[in-house]
Amino acid sequence: MTSPKDTKRRSQSWFGHEGKSGFLYRSWLKNQGYPSDLFDGRPVIGICNTWSELTPCNGHFRELAEYVKRGVYEAGGFPLEFPVMSLGETQMRPTAMLFRNLASMDVEESIRANPIDGVVLLMGCDKTTPSLMMGAASCDLPTIGVSGGPMLTGRWRGQKIGSGTGVWKMSEMVRAGEMEQEDFVEAESCMHRSKGGTCMTMGTASTMANMVEALGMSLPENAAIPAVDSRRYRLAQLSGRRIVQMVHEDMRMSKIMTRNAFENAIVANAAIGGSTNAVIHLLAMAGRIGVELNLKDWDDLGSKLPCLVNLQPSGEHLMEDYYYAGGLPAVLREMAPHLHLDALTVNGKTLGENVASAPCWNRDVITTASEPFKPDAGIAVLRGNLAPDGAVIKPSAASTHLLQHRGRAVVFENIEDLNARIDDDALDIDEHCVMVLKNCGPRGYPGMAEVGNMPLPPKLLKRGITDMVRISDGRMSGTAYGTVVLHTSPEAAAGGPLALVQNGDMIELDVAARRIHLDVTDEELARRRALWKAPEVPKRGWYKLYVDHVQQANLGADLDILVGGSGSEVPRDSH
Ligand code: FES
Ligand code: MG
Repeated sequence: MTSPKDTKRRSQSWFGHEGKSGFLYRSWLKNQGYPSDLFDGRPVIGICNTWSELTPCNGHFRELAEYVKRGVYEAGGFPLEFPVMSLGETQMRPTAMLFRNLASMDVEESIRANPIDGVVLLMGCDKTTPSLMMGAASCDLPTIGVSGGPMLTGRWRGQKIGSGTGVWKMSEMVRAGEMEQEDFVEAESCMHRSKGGTCMTMGTASTMANMVEALGMSLPENAAIPAVDSRRYRLAQLSGRRIVQMVHEDMRMSKIMTRNAFENAIVANAAIGGSTNAVIHLLAMAGRIGVELNLKDWDDLGSKLPCLVNLQPSGEHLMEDYYYAGGLPAVLREMAPHLHLDALTVNGKTLGENVASAPCWNRDVITTASEPFKPDAGIAVLRGNLAPDGAVIKPSAASTHLLQHRGRAVVFENIEDLNARIDDDALDIDEHCVMVLKNCGPRGYPGMAEVGNMPLPPKLLKRGITDMVRISDGRMSGTAYGTVVLHTSPEAAAGGPLALVQNGDMIELDVAARRIHLDVTDEELARRRALWKAPEVPKRGWYKLYVDHVQQANLGADLDILVGGSGSEVPRDSH
């Protein structure tokens, strides 16, 4: 099993020592009952686990890790599971995104500081995927991703109800007086009914699992197998076997996550109708692995492409249906003309080889590329005097009649201002207005919360209005929908033009022309800028470190000090 190359393995810088330090490194681990031969130079595989009871989407990860271990042992490796900061999307305030970069630091330093030769990343809930991918990329060891898989379809009174999407819909129905509060509460227990698993819409978690697979960083089918399906556990075991081989082959993350792989992921995002959050996360991941990628690439490569996947929030089905229909391999097979098929993936085969004969079992869920679910999908990147560094919109989740629109701005200074006034029937607003929300960006919130899909005023909902143009420097949940312009850069709190918008200003959105324009003269904007005061920023702790160093959304909202990597060099001895 052990080849001469194996003696150079980094774990042997710990376990291969004679004398005092070798004793220290081995003996303390042996308190867990490991026999001596596990320290003989075989690949040591770190299993990076984001299990937490506060991250219910990853609630099955302790069991999932056991299956990875089976595979690692079978292939002659030595698995060691370790916890990292887990980010539960639904519980964490002010937003889990505030901690994505912090968790990535935990991942990076945990890997580098320990006797690890290869890594398995257990990822599920929205931010756990990018934080683990980012942290691992900055180490660049052989690495394989295992996602937790989606929950089963939510079912309530004979209907399918999707994570997030169903909440946005039903809460607006309650506000419009079309649904009773008791029914709303009953639906709570019916939406999330499988133990463990991510949102089963094509929200951010499912999108990011698809991104991991499209990048070539997981075994095929990883994105879609439901969390509770036995095949999810089989995939974990096979991934455990494979990572040991990857260490023998020295197949590092940087060999997989190339520019071409990112281009494939961008195409895949359009084809699945994926979340706008993928834009920020992929930009940040690319920054860590040293791949040049920018916001414009998303429009150049990932717009004007067909969406083939009829899943909520853009469509009707859910992740369980997606898996049974064939999952991402079936999608990528259709998208082959747009892909770099020679991109290497973790199983040692190319992406093209992996998907060449992928079947599709349900064309209602995954269409062909020639007769797509939506012809013009992907992410459109808007620019103009309101967003000099860009803003994004997901046309497939927007209303066609609003994609070109001019309207009067109704401005909310922050989320509290919105919440305080939106239900007031005296609010001066109609369906032609453009809702503007400030101070929700990386620095402003802080953490760039998912509040961009502002709720509509009840007086308009009651008249049957279901969408309006909304603009902010925040994000929106991947499960949300609407004509929502997001990630406006620079953000208001950093002095971006969004900070200068006032009630009554006219705003023009023209998605086809990729334009977002504030119809106010430069002189007037300069006058307003002179009066603008930067908001107060946090004074201590992580919040301070974050606002001092976070980059704008168009750069991926990573900390400037975290861009790039430090590799997997073995740090100096501890004793
Ligand atoms: Fe965890 Fe949606 S809240 S995946
Ligand atoms: Mg989310």
